[in-house]
Amino acid sequence: MKLTVDTNKCSGHARCYAVAPEVFDIDDLGYALPLDVEVEEPIDERIAAGIAACPEHAIHLH
Ligand code: F3S
Repeated sequence: MKLTVDTNKCSGHARCYAVAPEVFDIDDLGYALPLDVEVEEPIDERIAAGIAACPEHAIHLH
């Protein structure tokens, strides 16, 4: 599965980074940097928590 961040939807809440800094990265203003990585199932709970933490629904697993 692919984990991506839609940087057009990101509003800089930085909650994804707060939950899983080893997966998500942010710039100096707190906006998520582009992400496009393959992840294995079962999905790591920190990745799932990062997705759930984004109030803009900018993080997708597909
Ligand atoms: Fe952006 Fe959502 Fe993370 S708004 S910084 S992708 S929590």
